[in-house]
Amino acid sequence: MIDIQKIRADFPILQRKINGKSLVYFDNAATSQTPKQVIDAITDYYTQYNANIHRGVHTLSSEATDAFEQARQKIQKHFNAKEPCEIIVTSGATHSVNIVAHGFQDLLGATDEVIVSEVEHHSNIVPWQMLCQKTGARLKVIPMKHSGALDISVFDKLLTTNTKLVVVNHVSNALGTINPIEEIIEKAHNYNAAVLIDGAQSSAHFKADVQELDVDFYLASAHKICGPTGVGFLYGKKAWLEKLPPYQGGGEMIDQVSFEKTTYAGLPHKFEAGTPNICGVIASGYALDYMNHIGFDVIEAYEQELLNYATNELLKIKGLTIYGTTSKKTAVISFGIKGIHPYDIGTLLDKMGIAVRTGHHCAQPIMDYYQISGTIRASFAFYNTKKEITYFISCLEKAIMMLA
Ligand code: ALA
Repeated sequence: MIDIQKIRADFPILQRKINGKSLVYFDNAATSQTPKQVIDAITDYYTQYNANIHRGVHTLSSEATDAFEQARQKIQKHFNAKEPCEIIVTSGATHSVNIVAHGFQDLLGATDEVIVSEVEHHSNIVPWQMLCQKTGARLKVIPMKHSGALDISVFDKLLTTNTKLVVVNHVSNALGTINPIEEIIEKAHNYNAAVLIDGAQSSAHFKADVQELDVDFYLASAHKICGPTGVGFLYGKKAWLEKLPPYQGGGEMIDQVSFEKTTYAGLPHKFEAGTPNICGVIASGYALDYMNHIGFDVIEAYEQELLNYATNELLKIKGLTIYGTTSKKTAVISFGIKGIHPYDIGTLLDKMGIAVRTGHHCAQPIMDYYQISGTIRASFAFYNTKKEITYFISCLEKAIMMLA
């Protein structure tokens, strides 16, 4: 059982008033809020052991290095990677995708193919487009169905012996749809294609086991899982990470440097040039601890309750369409109201203290599919309540009356 009041007390921001009303934060798919355990970890770092890592012999540096590497191990354990060196610390999901896309520049040729899906965030489309433009490889797209599910029967036909990479998100940020990645990975591997899964939207809701999935690359972003912004991770199978060239040159990613030749450091440092967001990475470890302490099974079950309740209530509203109607969804509801612009609804909800995201959600191909300019997206987290949803529904009805 989730102790919701105890959990809410951990999030100072939930006490805020917005336009004189208690904040109802339903924009968790954009970024999650931060519990005081993580805020305390940030304060502790800057008040006790702020120093650069992997560089100094002094006490502060070795304390910071140990804490940073412990955070890497927490991430490794959470995603069940075989070794800590398979976890590359990045600045976010976008950075993680770009490391792999850049790395494949030397591995693809004009006859090769990359398969993406129609339900990707722009950050999992544009880097692959750039890769294909550079290498001459062909970009193919798994189409979506009206429910928001991927059309796997078409995927079967897109796969060929020329397919070198398949990249799909675990969960669509715009629709909340959970994709059948187990099936996608298995099918891609039958053609010896590598698979990258974007876990930016799944990692807040359930755990992924990269060994069980047998996925080649998996990535996530800390600020979606109660951590700070500016931190992400890329998991890669060791053999793949050893094969890919570094994304950036700089300090700490080298073994030996001379003007004639530079040799690179081993994993994970080869991909971690420059000073990382040390505090952010350490705090992300605390964020994972925090969520694991509640338990992802508990989080998932509770969020599904919120999703079902909100879906049923929203469907009672005349003129409302939900986009993304598969049975396997995370707690994200994208919807539109006939004749009303999403932006106007979002603005009025904000006046009533409610934060939702409106627009195309960096997923324009999905909006093109539905022939709409955008949606209103309410995305829930484990610290939200049914009471907040009830308030949201009444405010939404009020906003519709004002705008109709
Ligand atoms: N990708 C984030 C979202 O879906 C920012 O809102």
